[in-house]
Amino acid sequence: MSSQIDHLLIESRRFAPPTTFAENALGTADLYAKAAADREGFWADKARELHWHKPFTQVLDWSNPPFATWFADGELNVSYNCLDRHVEAGNGGRVALLWEGEPGESRRVTYAELTDEVKRLANVLEGLGVQEGDRVAIYMPMIPEAIAAMLAVARLGAMHSVVFGGFSADSLRSRIDDAGAKVVITADGGYRKGKVSPLKPAVDMALADRNGSGIQETVEHVLVVRRGGNDVDWTDGRDIWWHDAVPQASAEHTARAFPAETPLFILYTSGTTGNPKGIMHSSGGYLTQAAFTNKVVHDIHAETDVFWCTADIGWITGHTYVTYGPLANGATQVLYEGTPDTPHPGRWWEVVEKYGVTVLYTAPTAIRSFMKIGRSVPKKFDLSSLRLLGSVGEPINPEAWMWYRKIIGGKTAPIVDTWWQTETGAIMISALPGVTETKPGSAQVPLPGVSIDVVDDDGSHVGNGNGGLLVVTEPWPSMLRGIWGDPERYKETYWDKFAAQGYYFAGDGARLDDDGEVWLLGRVDDVMNVSGHRLSTTEIESALVANEAVAEAAVVGASDETTGQAVAAFVIIKQSYLAAHSPDGLAQSLRRWVGEQIGPIARPRDVYIVEELPKTRSGKIMRRLLRDVAEGREVGDTTTLADTAVMSVISAQVR
Ligand code: PRX
Repeated sequence: MSSQIDHLLIESRRFAPPTTFAENALGTADLYAKAAADREGFWADKARELHWHKPFTQVLDWSNPPFATWFADGELNVSYNCLDRHVEAGNGGRVALLWEGEPGESRRVTYAELTDEVKRLANVLEGLGVQEGDRVAIYMPMIPEAIAAMLAVARLGAMHSVVFGGFSADSLRSRIDDAGAKVVITADGGYRKGKVSPLKPAVDMALADRNGSGIQETVEHVLVVRRGGNDVDWTDGRDIWWHDAVPQASAEHTARAFPAETPLFILYTSGTTGNPKGIMHSSGGYLTQAAFTNKVVHDIHAETDVFWCTADIGWITGHTYVTYGPLANGATQVLYEGTPDTPHPGRWWEVVEKYGVTVLYTAPTAIRSFMKIGRSVPKKFDLSSLRLLGSVGEPINPEAWMWYRKIIGGKTAPIVDTWWQTETGAIMISALPGVTETKPGSAQVPLPGVSIDVVDDDGSHVGNGNGGLLVVTEPWPSMLRGIWGDPERYKETYWDKFAAQGYYFAGDGARLDDDGEVWLLGRVDDVMNVSGHRLSTTEIESALVANEAVAEAAVVGASDETTGQAVAAFVIIKQSYLAAHSPDGLAQSLRRWVGEQIGPIARPRDVYIVEELPKTRSGKIMRRLLRDVAEGREVGDTTTLADTAVMSVISAQVR
């Protein structure tokens, strides 16, 4: 980390917002002063931009920390805010979704059409018994029906749990079980990398006979969109085709008002232990900050902008900046089904040109892969519509930042590097593009109404020019409300470390520069960040030891030019296995195995077969030393190892 800090210290480039951009920007300098003068009043004003069936009189209640409530006596309907209210305001004809399928078909869905679809689906779900508080799992490709599914569940006061379509049947099953989902909404398959990637078969596997498993099946119905056209098995009585149910249902559905703290969704994310945590978000506070940040950070002018957030709805970025933020703001956005390089490496830029995208929000890993391919590809397309660029998910290195600005942003578009997490629900640290002078590589300043600090292990402010741990010092509207079913884990994970100060511990290292602005330095725990996706070292280790060949495994995140970090696994093979099998091809098959167990994003870049792992006297694996090996560095201090010779053996084996 120290070489990274040194590198960042010499970054001195600054970019002021273009004048016309600044003049028209929705995020203005006075927001900082307003929020500083009355933080809660500021958020209350932002919340009042939504439609409240019953206005709130309370703002923040922090009398029972770390459990916050926001706007608790108010009532609203999230789906109504994202749909009906725009139609009722006369904007039903505005395009909500400009959908582009990977093979090239397109659909324009207006606010009126999306509202109709959601109302029909809400009626279908009600008919299937979905009620306030129930959980519905969504396992879908990036198609308009996926957005409709989220909004229909929200409309009923039920909670969705969206599971990324790239996750395995096992991962899907554990998420369905943990949430106790009543209904699963899926598709036969969706297009990825030029072919249909099946989804329904994974749902079938996840719900396969559980006799003897001790787990009670909670899923009563599976609603299936036909998208891929692939053959699927059918369980009569349980499975329902979307096209047999939704178009026939009534398009009359009155949105009921729900209290602001009604849980809106659970989204599973990796933590430091084996099981993913179900992060819970609420309705009023979440929607307030989602809409506000989309408006002022992405500078969304609903009448004129074409927004494109490239994230999948299986991640928090897709929840907040595909579904809830843009739709609450009545914006027009692109929804693209497939991969960036299918059928050709310029696919994304073709989409930007085709729809005249004005604001693009994506991840550094994507930018770095485009850099690798070279500027000649984006140069073939007209990208002049782009006026603002955003980055999210991992630190963006200054080189990638500059390339993004020059090659994609035509040397003028401001770049907002936005720091936040599944847990924070919405952007927390970012430039305001019409106000802030941007610095390549830094997320810079907390948003108005957000209180951030960088502190040492004791919780004391580190001061400019120093590194430490990132904390949020005051509750914020879109903060997680807990971990599904595990309030203790919520306290332990985020609040115990700085209990004395009452700070939220984000798990990230950060540094304050001489201007007091924030530079993110990566995770300080056993969470890896691969292509902007969070993966847990322990979860992958558990998958590895579940293989019959593996006796022990240790996983580290090793730095990688394109993906930020890559998974490197060190495994010890069982003697009994080696006695009966050849070790040839074993590393490859273990890579594949992890991909099948968790999902392709978790597949290790490297699997090293070793005879021992470096452990302290108390038996803790010293991952830091393994990271040195995986990154090809000289191995650091080994004095605390039980057996100091072990690292030279490992290094020799890896070489
Ligand atoms: O380490 C930080 C990194 O991503 C983590 C959160 O991951 P997740 O919950 O999957 O959400 C990703 C999208 C919001 C953080 O703890 N991270 C996110 N944004 C940035 C970042 N690191 C540096 N700079 C960012 N802009």
